[in-house]
Order: sequence, then C-alpha cells, then structure tokens
Amino acid sequence: GLVTKRSNMLGLIVPNISNPFFPELCRGAEDEANKRQYSLIICNSDDQTQKEENYLRLLKEQQVDGILLSSKDRLSKTSKNQLQSGKIPYVLFDRGEEGNNYSGVFLDNEKGGYLAGKHLTDLGHTKIACMTGPQDIRNSQQRLLGFQQALMENSVNLLGSFILDGDFQMDTAYRVAKDFLQNNNVTAIFACNDLMACGIYRAAHEIGIQIPEQLSIIGFDDIPLVTALIPKLTTIRQGTYEMGRKAIELLINKIENNSSEEVVFEPTLIVRESTEQIR
Ligand code: RIB
Repeated sequence: GLVTKRSNMLGLIVPNISNPFFPELCRGAEDEANKRQYSLIICNSDDQTQKEENYLRLLKEQQVDGILLSSKDRLSKTSKNQLQSGKIPYVLFDRGEEGNNYSGVFLDNEKGGYLAGKHLTDLGHTKIACMTGPQDIRNSQQRLLGFQQALMENSVNLLGSFILDGDFQMDTAYRVAKDFLQNNNVTAIFACNDLMACGIYRAAHEIGIQIPEQLSIIGFDDIPLVTALIPKLTTIRQGTYEMGRKAIELLINKIENNSSEEVVFEPTLIVRESTEQIR
C-alpha cells in the first residue's frame, strides 16, 4: 500500500494566551495528543489576523500533520487559503465557522447566555446588566442573544444602557464597571466571560458594593481560577479541557480517516456563591 510520511506533530493556534480559558484548552489538547503519540506545537495569535496567518504558514513549513485553530472569529481569506490549498487537515475550535465539511468543536453559546439569564431571573432579579465580549465576535453576540431571550421570557427588560461594552479582558471590565456601578443601580450582572467578572469584582470592591448581598455576578467559561475568588464565582461552564481533548480526537480522525465531524458542547450552570435571591 501507499506509505505516507507523518511527522506526528500537530499545531495549535490560540487567540489569546493570557486568558486562562486558552491554557485550559492547551492542557486538554496536549494530553490527548500525547496519549495518541503526537506532539503539540502551541502558537499565540494575539487576536491578530496577520500573526495567525504567519503561524499557519510556519506550521505548514514544519510539516505538522494537522492544525487545531482557534481563530479570532470567522477565518480570513488568507487563513482559509493557507489551510485549504495545502490540503492540511484542520479542526476549528471555539470560534470560526460551522458547516461545510469542517471539523469543529464549539459551544452552544446562546444556550449558555440563556442559562445565565434564567438563573438571575429565577432569583428574582429585574435590574440586570450584561457586559458583553467584543461586539464583532459571534460567540459574544450569541451569549447576549440567549441572555436577552431568558429575560424576555420573564418579562424583564434589558435596558440598552445596561448593555456594557466589554472586550473579554479584565482591565477594560474593571474600568467600565467602575464607571457604571457608581452611576447605576442594578442588582445583578452577567459577565460574558470569567476574566471580566474578575474585573467587575475589583470595581465593586473599591466602590464598597458587596457581592452577592448587593450585587449578584455570574460569569462564563469556568476557568479554574474563579473558585479562588471571594465569594466563589457562579458561572457557566464550558468544559474547556474536555473540549480540547475532543478537538484533538477529531483532528486525528481527520488525519487518519479523513472524516469530518462537528461537535457542539452543552454549557452547564455552576452555582457557587456570587449570586443570590433578591432581598
Ligand atoms: O474568555 C475567552 C472567551 O473567548 C471564552 O469565553 C471563549 O469561548 C472565547 O471565545
């Protein structure tokens, strides 16, 4: 039969290495790769299309057998070409596009937002704010959509002015929250990722707002760090480690059997200490 040369190396590109969500993905991906006798090269694109394209080229030059790509959002033309022209097996993770024979591992982000909204309305909150991720990233739009859906079902209005522009980063969240909380009375906030929840904690603490007595906070991701917060953060779990393992499994299936599959993980509500019944 035909003998194909393999390097037994895989590449992984993440959009932001300093967000603890992505090391968790790397952990899962690397464990699964090693288990299957592959090594993993990890690259960081810093949410920059140019860096992503460079790394794709580099990984191909290194003759990796396949690439796991967590893109900034939809793939750029160049990235798509890099992947498709070289006929290199690849799997998309967390962001990117679904369908069309892609292999991909994604989360049902709308459902996640919905669970967050339902949790807060179940606790009786009506004055609620939402801090979004970057407006142009679909993950972040879908979370807001699901969140609004849950509020609507409970006849709670999410005022436009209570939709806060975040960017998935802690520092921006801190600044935006500090300004907002000083001037508005809400009893609950949904942060579209855990890092932003950390920034909101700091703002609340500095203003003297008590969590959860005066303000309930729910996050998104369930990064390992959030159980060290006081109070422990209630959040929407993605199961990032497992998703990373699954993505490598799909990648190896693609390499070895040329089979495509898309897996959508279900988010789950993890109730800890940062949310409580309205008084
Ligand atoms: O915290 C980083 C966020 O960006 C995560 O929620 C993940 O889903 C990604 O899109």
